[in-house]
Amino acid sequence: MIEFKHESRNDQDGIENLLDLVFSPSRINLSSYSLRKKIPKVKTLCFVAKNTDGSIIGVIRYWPVLIGEKKQISLLIGPIAIHPIFQGEGLGAYLINHSIKISKKYGWKRAILIGDIDYYKSFGFFQQKKNKINFPQPTDSKRILLLELENNSFKGVEGKVVKFY
Ligand SMILES: CC(C)(COP(=O)(O)OP(=O)(O)OC[C@H]1O[C@@H](n2cnc3c(N)ncnc32)[C@H](O)[C@@H]1OP(=O)(O)O)[C@@H](O)C(=O)NCCC(=O)NCCS
Repeated sequence: MIEFKHESRNDQDGIENLLDLVFSPSRINLSSYSLRKKIPKVKTLCFVAKNTDGSIIGVIRYWPVLIGEKKQISLLIGPIAIHPIFQGEGLGAYLINHSIKISKKYGWKRAILIGDIDYYKSFGFFQQKKNKINFPQPTDSKRILLLELENNSFKGVEGKVVKFY
């Protein structure tokens, strides 16, 4: 049976191996990684999916980021990865829905994710109309997806996405 658990210290190697497999080791050069470097994750929202043998077959991680001159706080969702053998079985959807539900309980208001709108729209993510929120380059603006965890929480939020400090 597949188990869903909070990420723990013992999971680090398994998670790195999974991310290397799914995204390749060069993933660390992606612009989103610059926002995560040396910043602690939002532990309450980071989950893994484990196979019966304890191996890690899915992961979702969250970091805090700041947006614009007003330094409005947001979640940065990702990476999200499911082992290729287990893709298409609903594990990704479960990790996303479960962690989003918890983020609302903790009072988070908004989240950003870099990904394919075709997959993420069913969870409520949307593309911004006027590109007011800028992500570190290079990033395809169509892949900047927003999620309001509280109604209208992206209203008036604009500017550069920067590291939480
Ligand atoms: C994207 C990912 C996390 C989804 O997890 P999953 O457990 O495979 O997905 P689910 O089972 O919840 O959903 C499967 C459905 O999503 C669709 N889907 C998966 N990736 C998609 C994408 N990039 N664009 C559109 N649809 C996508 C599948 O075709 C499938 O559709 P169906 O139900 O109509 O057959 C996973 O496939 C994965 O790790 N992919 C590679 C890494 C990646 O792209 N991560 C996200 C970057 S932010």
